[in-house]
Amino acid sequence: MPDKPTNSQGPIGMFDSGFGGLTVARAVIDLMPAEDVVYIGDTGRYPYGNKPAEQVREYARELAWSLVRDYQAKLVVIACNTAASVALHELANELPVPVLGVVEPGARALVRATHNGKVGVIGTVGTISSGAYVGAIRDTKAQVTLTSAACPGFVEFVERDQTTGDEVTVLAERLLAPVRDAGVDALLLGCTHYPYLSRVIGEVMGPQVVLVSSGDETAFAVRDALAELNLAASNRIGTHRFLSSGDIAWFAQLGRRLLGPELDQAEQWSSK
Ligand code: DGL
Repeated sequence: MPDKPTNSQGPIGMFDSGFGGLTVARAVIDLMPAEDVVYIGDTGRYPYGNKPAEQVREYARELAWSLVRDYQAKLVVIACNTAASVALHELANELPVPVLGVVEPGARALVRATHNGKVGVIGTVGTISSGAYVGAIRDTKAQVTLTSAACPGFVEFVERDQTTGDEVTVLAERLLAPVRDAGVDALLLGCTHYPYLSRVIGEVMGPQVVLVSSGDETAFAVRDALAELNLAASNRIGTHRFLSSGDIAWFAQLGRRLLGPELDQAEQWSSK
């Protein structure tokens, strides 16, 4: 973690292409109730998972700088696997505050969860084709065999609030076949939307497979980084702001169902 001067009074800034990063926001709010949080869901330009890496990098840069300049974020969390896969290292170098992604914390949790040494990662086409998880798992130095599978279509089900039922199960059977056939005993949900589908994914994979989601691990990494840099807030109740680049009424409505009561209203965010 680079030792960057930053404002300890500022919020934790987080962004995602849409609603999925709310799984990470939930974990951050639960673990660090004293922290202020500003979350931007880029629903106006979602999805990222099927867009070229350069385009996602550009969006990520815009959102991250907005969190720092417009909202005085003391630390930025890229709460989107696709954006973190292609933009983390660049943004960590260029931003004046610490930047964390969801890929490395997820990879660490995955290799801890396996007993048979066979692990799986599922994510968007952008995340899987970036190779970010291959690198992150290699960096853990764990002796594991990784099988990856892109799952196009999963995110769309979540965004339609359709997280169970025959249609999603049929798709899951097909897309999860490579990781199931590989005999993995730990599967990383390498997309922030997938925890909302964990019931279906768990049924298809079977009870012997542990599903790992990066939200909690990322929250622990944020807590550790703030403590290390002496930036943690304490003895107060944090405030939470949620912004969207798309329809804010829809963001507040679905977001509240996904995150909980802290998301009582959404504000408009626009690129400048
Ligand atoms: N938030 C994205 C991720 O975690 C998934 C949604 C999208 O494709 O934009 O990869």
